Amino acid sequence: MKVTRLSDKPKHRRQPPFTVKTVTQISQHLCILTGALALPLSGCKTTQSSVDNRGEVYVAGASQRGNGSTAAPRPPAAAGYAPKESYSKVQTSLPFVALTFDDGPHPSNTPRLLDILKARDVKATFFVVGTNVKRYPNIMRRIIAEGHEIGNHTVSHGNMTKMSSAQIERELTTAHQSIQAATGVAPRIMRPPYGAITSSQKSWIKQKWGYPSIMWSVDPQDWKKPGASVVTSRLVNGAKPGGILLVHDIHSPSIDAMPGTIDQILRKGLQFVTVSQLIALDGKG
Ligand code: NI
Repeated sequence: MKVTRLSDKPKHRRQPPFTVKTVTQISQHLCILTGALALPLSGCKTTQSSVDNRGEVYVAGASQRGNGSTAAPRPPAAAGYAPKESYSKVQTSLPFVALTFDDGPHPSNTPRLLDILKARDVKATFFVVGTNVKRYPNIMRRIIAEGHEIGNHTVSHGNMTKMSSAQIERELTTAHQSIQAATGVAPRIMRPPYGAITSSQKSWIKQKWGYPSIMWSVDPQDWKKPGASVVTSRLVNGAKPGGILLVHDIHSPSIDAMPGTIDQILRKGLQFVTVSQLIALDGKG
């Protein structure tokens, strides 16, 4: 299976801390993020890139809440907001990264992770599997209630490069509807299991569902269970502005690694945002 293995290239040099240089830069960060969240902030220009003409925004959380129906997926409200078909990172020098968790929700590991995130006021993105969504709807609702983003990770976690279009359509639509039924929120992003997807599938999926395919820039290979300290050091060393970090919340040792990982990345001067919030920063700063 072809996966990105940036973490196989150890980086021995610690990255310098990222510092916010000017008041202008700070206010730009706030404007971009509050714009993405549809929160008014004086001095910010509202742009079409963050808020569409119906006042809906393309981000996680409350602003993403739908009408609770299980209607067929529709394209993102803010056309052009995520213009790319795929992201493995976002082009920005602003000090933000996205922490993403795949394959859950898990009945014990995901709630433990949510406690860790809540204690640090860190927002993350969960690429959930449809079978688990149906099994643990209360955890799904907690993820949304606590301000995180949910992405589509198919129903059965199969390799999409070996599926027909009809199979992929069933996988993505059924998972989309399960997520929306459990939470009232329609996912706006997807991640192909194993990162296995063709470029023509990316185009088709973006066109049909509006989903950009979200890959990653840092893979600690946590599913191989190398130990919490190894997972932490790989994630911390790999975290750079615009980065997308891959973790699996179905593995207990991966959760063990999170307090140290989050605290060390924060000490590098980076802050955590959801994937859709990170996409809002693409090409900015
Ligand atoms: Ni997965």
